Amino acid sequence: MLFKQQALLRQKLFVLGSLAIGSLLYLVARVGSLDRLQPLCPIDGRFGPRGQGEIPLRALQFKRGLLHEFRKGNATKEQIRLHNLVQQLPKAIIIGVRKGGTRALLEMLNLHPAVVKASQEIHFFDNDENYAKGIEWYRKKMPFSYPHQITIEKSPAYFITEEVPERIYKMNSSIKLLIIVREPTTRAISDYTQVLEGKERKNKTYYKFEKLAIDPNTCEVNTKYKAVRTSIYTKHLERWLKYFPIEQFHIVDGDRLITEPLPELQLVEKFLNLPPRISQYNLYFNATRGFYCLRFNIVFNKCLAGSKGRIHPEVDTSVITKLRKFFHPFNQKFYQITGRTFNWP
Ligand code: A3P
Repeated sequence: MLFKQQALLRQKLFVLGSLAIGSLLYLVARVGSLDRLQPLCPIDGRFGPRGQGEIPLRALQFKRGLLHEFRKGNATKEQIRLHNLVQQLPKAIIIGVRKGGTRALLEMLNLHPAVVKASQEIHFFDNDENYAKGIEWYRKKMPFSYPHQITIEKSPAYFITEEVPERIYKMNSSIKLLIIVREPTTRAISDYTQVLEGKERKNKTYYKFEKLAIDPNTCEVNTKYKAVRTSIYTKHLERWLKYFPIEQFHIVDGDRLITEPLPELQLVEKFLNLPPRISQYNLYFNATRGFYCLRFNIVFNKCLAGSKGRIHPEVDTSVITKLRKFFHPFNQKFYQITGRTFNWP
């Protein structure tokens, strides 16, 4: 009797074990295949006629796998040669604006199989010491990519630094330039919040926003305050227009990128002449973060770092009103130049 029960138990365990192993094997195979055939890239009809922006499937695998290793510098020269990988100068640069959503834009564009991002801000054109190192130094800072992919970097300081437009023009006069903007007063407060957090981390005290943004002698907006100056978008853009025609710029609505990222990204895909590959699948709202996060495939997704999406301090409403009134005429000019109108007050 005891022997019979033991045999029955052994049989049950065998069936359960087989089921568990079977499910595991199925899952592994499924995750593997989904990783290869990402839902953002159904194979058929994805690319136009052959040769027009066609991206080999292996590029997709590479971007999420081996390319990552290459980026980390773990590749041998032989591997790089074998896979035809190159470090390319950027075909497009996110030149600003600081706190406009530059990181979110770069990371979201990187969802596209034909885009490769430079992870760090390189500060080549705004930093004299870096610039003196020459263009080869800059190129070597770029990630490895396939020749048909485009490299994008972002350094928001470029937008407001005097020397940068001429320097970029000298590198590539037909480069595409992306500017992501937010309602100017909100952007200025976001800028202040970042600096404030830095001071607090070092246990330092700092002025209130109101004190910095308003000149105590005149009670007018303090145009010497950098966070205010940066938000006068038209002034900076006018400097850039001495070198590049307006067609080479694309303005991204940073406020809309927060609430509704996909249409903004689709406009950028169009501007960069990329086939539309970023889909709603790649972007999901994370209620805990209060922001959209990125989904590369069934196994790999990520949200931006906690330093993106800080809680802003309360600012006196009369100061906000004053700032909004101050920015108003500059905004009108900005709309007129760029042909893109925002509902900024
Ligand atoms: P706040 O911290 O003021 O909210 P940048 O990358 O240029 O420094 O911009 C930071 C801003 O990006 C953040 O400003 C945040 O609002 C915005 N942002 C846009 N999309 C985001 C996202 N998906 N996750 C986190 N922050 C995002």
